[in-house]
Amino acid sequence: MTNHSIRVSGLCFIVILGLSSLAFAETTCLRCHGDKQPNQFFHGNLSEGCSSCHGASEAHLKSPIRNKPDRILAGDAPHTQNQACLSCHEGADHHNWTGSAHDTADVSCTSCHAVHGDPIDPGSIETCLGCHQSVRTSLHLPSRHPILEGLMGCVDCHEPHGTGLNAMTRGVIETDTCTSCHAEKQGPVLFEHEPVTEDCANCHEPHGSVIPGMLKTRPPFLCQQCHQAVDHPGQLAFGRNTANAPASALGQSCLNCHGQVHGSNHPSGARLTR
Ligand code: HEC
Ligand code: HEC
Ligand code: HEC
Ligand code: HEC
Ligand code: HEC
Ligand code: HEC
Ligand code: HEC
Ligand code: HEC
Ligand code: HEC
Ligand code: HEC
Repeated sequence: MTNHSIRVSGLCFIVILGLSSLAFAETTCLRCHGDKQPNQFFHGNLSEGCSSCHGASEAHLKSPIRNKPDRILAGDAPHTQNQACLSCHEGADHHNWTGSAHDTADVSCTSCHAVHGDPIDPGSIETCLGCHQSVRTSLHLPSRHPILEGLMGCVDCHEPHGTGLNAMTRGVIETDTCTSCHAEKQGPVLFEHEPVTEDCANCHEPHGSVIPGMLKTRPPFLCQQCHQAVDHPGQLAFGRNTANAPASALGQSCLNCHGQVHGSNHPSGARLTR
């Protein structure tokens, strides 16, 4: 026998042993809990079967009515139940879970990941909208992302396990959430507009808006939220002293002159006019 085939047959032995003890553990539990097959979508091949989550539960096996299993009981608070999952899933993607809005609101892992019963598609917008009904309304507004069309989903912008950012949005800084797709709006530019580098949601309503361009408010009011007392050359005053403004300017939005609202790369674009 070559070394190679010894290794192979040794491996087979371990695999068979593993499978048979798995079969034993599951069969024992399933004898009484036939309806609790772990979801084959995932966790179909955990080496310890039911015990990986519920614990060895020896006392329960001896006297199931008198003794509960070790872990994950009906009355468990979501937080306690989640700890059983996090004992294995505390890796890279979940290090923000603790303290996230979902953790704080006591949302359980199993609201999005069915372990028993019908699988849930955690990435489907319906999973999220089931709890976030108020967002659904915005998705139908005239200026919106193609979310209902199925071209993008909530998880394109949100990481439901939590992030360091506002509203569990994806990225390292707030604008990453948007510039991952709208790369042309990513700086640096020669003349930056502070609210743009800070957070696109200063002006945009990402779930949808009645105002074109998914804006939160219509210009000039959008701009006047921050620029209350703008004095323009030739007494073009907006918001404060409109009596002095020529009629031609009054009807205009600030954007007619300050078209480069996202910032300018033009040598004389300091005022975002070009
Ligand atoms: C990945 C972890 C995991 C695995 C593996 C798992 N379970 Fe569960 N089990 C849970 C969670 C979480 C709940 C409670 C929430 C739910 O029902 O989805 C639960 C609930 C139960 C309940 C019902 C408790 C109640 O009050 O309704 C039974 C019974 C049960 N599991 C048995 C089993 C058996 C038998 C197996 C193996 C065939 C198994 N579980 C494998 C996580 C797991
Ligand atoms: C001899 C039958 C039997 C066997 C074997 C058995 N159980 Fe149970 N199990 C029960 C009964 C009975 C209950 C209580 C049901 C109830 O209260 O509705 C129960 C309850 C449970 C519950 C719910 C406990 C709670 O209070 O929420 C879980 C989870 C569970 N069993 C998991 C397991 C696991 C995992 C195994 C294998 C390690 C196992 N059971 C083996 C009969 C059994
Ligand atoms: C004993 C360790 C262990 C525990 C406890 C455990 N898991 Fe897992 N989980 C795994 C492993 C290993 C995989 C990957 C195996 C596979 O793909 O079947 C996995 C896969 C997953 C996946 C799918 C990953 C993918 O890429 O599709 C999800 C979601 C998940 N687990 C959620 C949970 C939840 C929710 C709980 C608690 C109810 C839980 N896990 C408890 C070990 C565990
Ligand atoms: C609000 C819904 C939601 C909750 C709550 C949730 N998840 Fe997830 N999970 C998702 C979605 C959606 C994905 C698909 C990957 C993605 O886009 O992040 C996912 C992916 C995963 C994966 C596979 C990919 C990865 O990140 O490794 C694992 C494992 C997982 N979740 C475990 C958990 C655990 C453990 C908990 C509880 C501590 C949990 N999830 C709570 C929605 C959720
Ligand atoms: C089981 C119910 C439930 C499900 C399912 C759910 N959420 Fe939540 N979510 C909550 C609760 C409760 C809060 C905290 C209260 C609030 O802000 O509404 C929350 C908060 C949030 C927040 C606000 C975060 C903050 O910092 O203000 C975002 C964003 C969010 N969820 C996104 C999602 C996404 C994306 C999904 C789908 C992958 C999802 N949720 C699925 C219940 C749920
Ligand atoms: C284009 C990116 C994007 C998409 C897609 C998106 N969101 Fe958001 N969401 C955001 C941003 C950015 C915020 C923070 C808004 C703010 O600060 O004004 C937010 C805020 C939230 C909040 C907390 C504040 C609120 O409005 O209630 C919830 C809950 C939420 N989103 C859920 C969802 C759900 C559910 C979906 C899918 C139907 C979804 N989001 C799709 C970017 C997005
Ligand atoms: C997953 C990719 C993706 C992400 C992430 C994304 N967008 Fe979009 N965005 C799109 C697509 C696709 C369109 C539609 C383009 C079209 O219809 O021509 C769009 C359109 C827009 C529009 C124009 C809407 C209109 O009515 O003309 C604005 C404004 C916008 N996005 C802002 C944002 C903001 C702000 C964020 C971050 C909160 C963001 N986007 C994140 C893909 C994305
Ligand atoms: C100071 C307010 C403000 C901020 C902050 C802002 N925008 Fe805008 N955005 C606007 C206005 C106003 C329009 C409409 C422009 C028009 O109609 O010509 C617009 C239009 C858009 C459009 C659609 C038209 C186009 O130019 O492609 C996209 C996409 C967009 N913004 C993305 C972003 C992204 C990404 C960010 C963050 C990096 C951001 N915006 C930050 C005010 C802002
Ligand atoms: C969330 C607050 C905010 C909003 C909304 C906002 N801005 Fe600004 N804007 C600022 C800040 C902060 C600066 C930089 C500080 C300064 O120079 O006053 C700035 C700078 C500017 C400048 C350059 C001023 C200079 O002295 O260099 C112009 C022009 C400008 N904004 C126009 C607009 C227009 C047009 C809108 C509407 C589409 C708008 N802003 C919306 C906060 C805002
Ligand atoms: C008719 C064209 C025009 C319109 C409309 C206009 N601006 Fe200006 N704005 C200018 C010019 C030109 C400058 C440059 C003045 C300078 O360089 O001294 C300027 C300068 C500014 C500055 C720089 C600070 C300052 O006081 O000089 C801000 C901020 C600003 N405008 C905001 C706005 C806002 C907000 C609106 C809408 C309410 C608006 N502008 C409408 C032409 C216009």
